This record gives sequence, structure tokens and C-alpha cells, in this order.
Amino acid sequence: MKIFGILVTAVLTATAVNARSGLSNIHEPLNTHENFIVAHGWGPERWGCSFTRTQVHESGSGTMITIGKDSEKKPYSCGELIHRQDRLGYGTYSIEMIASNIVGQVTSFFLIANEDTEIDIELTGLNNHIGWMNVWHDHIQNPVSINLPFDTSEDWHSYSFDWHQDHIVWSVDGQVVLNRSDIATTPPDQANYKLVINSWAQVQPEINIDWAGKFKYPKDGRVPKARYRNMSIEPIIQL
Ligand SMILES: *[C@@H]1O[C@H](CO)[C@@H](O)[C@H](O)[C@H]1NC(C)=O
Ligand SMILES: *[C@@H]1O[C@H](CO)[C@@H](O)[C@H](O)[C@H]1NC(C)=O
Repeated sequence: MKIFGILVTAVLTATAVNARSGLSNIHEPLNTHENFIVAHGWGPERWGCSFTRTQVHESGSGTMITIGKDSEKKPYSCGELIHRQDRLGYGTYSIEMIASNIVGQVTSFFLIANEDTEIDIELTGLNNHIGWMNVWHDHIQNPVSINLPFDTSEDWHSYSFDWHQDHIVWSVDGQVVLNRSDIATTPPDQANYKLVINSWAQVQPEINIDWAGKFKYPKDGRVPKARYRNMSIEPIIQL
């Protein structure tokens, strides 16, 4: 697998120790949403959609999030699931996804704290042979695009990130695609990290046009959809 972007070797001198305990492994087939908050009635200002419960569909084979046209507030409706387990910490976070192939639709899985630190995996319908691995810190994004040897919209593939105190390792189908130790993350005992699954529509072409593209609802009958199953969290036990 080819890696576009920088592979970074600088090692941080982080000193914080996460003394959190009591988190055990979580496996979510995503057949139900009992352990999630289903976002409803809001969505970041610049997005072209508002999170709407009815766009998040559960089934025996996982979860599907669709983009709809029934939003009262924004051009479109979209969906988000937030896992109820909060105060998450270092560990491995993984999921299987089938991305949308509609330009402008984002299929994502990420950890977020205080809208200040985010560790992301984002697939966009602009290019289904790329996966975006991103880490946000101090309001700065650090995305890296990874060339993938398959079409992310055609089949299930697993995507994961391994969050450690001084580095983050992203993997696709069990193969390491990126390892970064150049970006600090706020330690988990200083912020409330939550795990989020969402799919949304970008309508402002001037923002990130080369990343997701501008969403237009397909006129050919295709339903803009993103699928998810088998999410898991394996915390690193801090001694
Ligand atoms: C992944 O999800 C599928 C469909 O829900 C299920 O059949 C399978 O057992 C799951 N795999 C794992 C490793 O949980
Ligand atoms: C990632 O980089 C860190 C720091 O350079 C290193 O300790 C770790 O072993 C690397 N992990 C993998 C999977 O390459």
C-alpha cells in the first residue's frame, strides 16, 4: 500500500499518564442503537445537513446512514451515532464500513474531545480509492490521504486507529497504513473523548473541494448511503 504524505518520526516528550481504568473491550455489531445517542436536530453550521434520527437505519446486518431531503433547517438531513461510553482513552478503535460513492458525501468514524482533538478516518465520495486519516489538535487539521487498492464503496473493509500516548497507528484491513508521532493529542484524562460514526453532505464547494467535493442529491434514483458494522473498542490498560 502506498502512503501519500509525510511519515513522521519525531517522538513527543509527553509526560501525562492516563490512570483511567475500568474500561473493557466493547464490540458493537451495530444491529441496534441501544448503546448510542442518535443525534437529532442539529449539525455543524458549515455543513449542508442537519442530523436527523430517521436517516439512521438499523438492521440485522449493521447500520446504514442516508442523506435525505427532509431537513427543515438545512438543504439535507444526515445522520450521526455517538457511543454512550464516554471518557474513552488510549486503545484500538475499529469498524467495518462501505462508503458512499456520491460526491460530497462523507463516511466517517472518529474520536472527538471538546471539539479540540479528533482522530479520524474519513472516506469521501469524491474518490473511493482514497482513505483520509486525520488528527486534529488545537483547531489544526493534519489529514493524510492513503491510496487504497480497492473501491471503498463496493464492499466491507475494516478501518482502525490505535491511539497511544505518543503516536497513532492507522490500519486498513489489518495492514498498517500510517503511523504518526508528530501531532500531540490531548491526554484522555484532560478531555472527554467520545466515539462517533457519521455521514454528512458537504455543500460549500469553497471548503475542502478537493477532499469531498460538493454534494448534490442524485437525480438518477441512487440513495446516498454509508454502511457500518462491527465497531469495536479495545482499551489499552494503563498500569
Ligand atoms: C461482522 O458483522 C457481520 C454482520 O453483522 C457478522 O455476521 C459477523 O459475525 C461480524 N464479525 C465480527 C468479527 O464480529
Ligand atoms: C509507530 O511509531 C512509534 C514511534 O515512532 C513506534 O514506537 C511504534 O512501534 C510504531 N508502530 C508501528 C505499528 O509501526
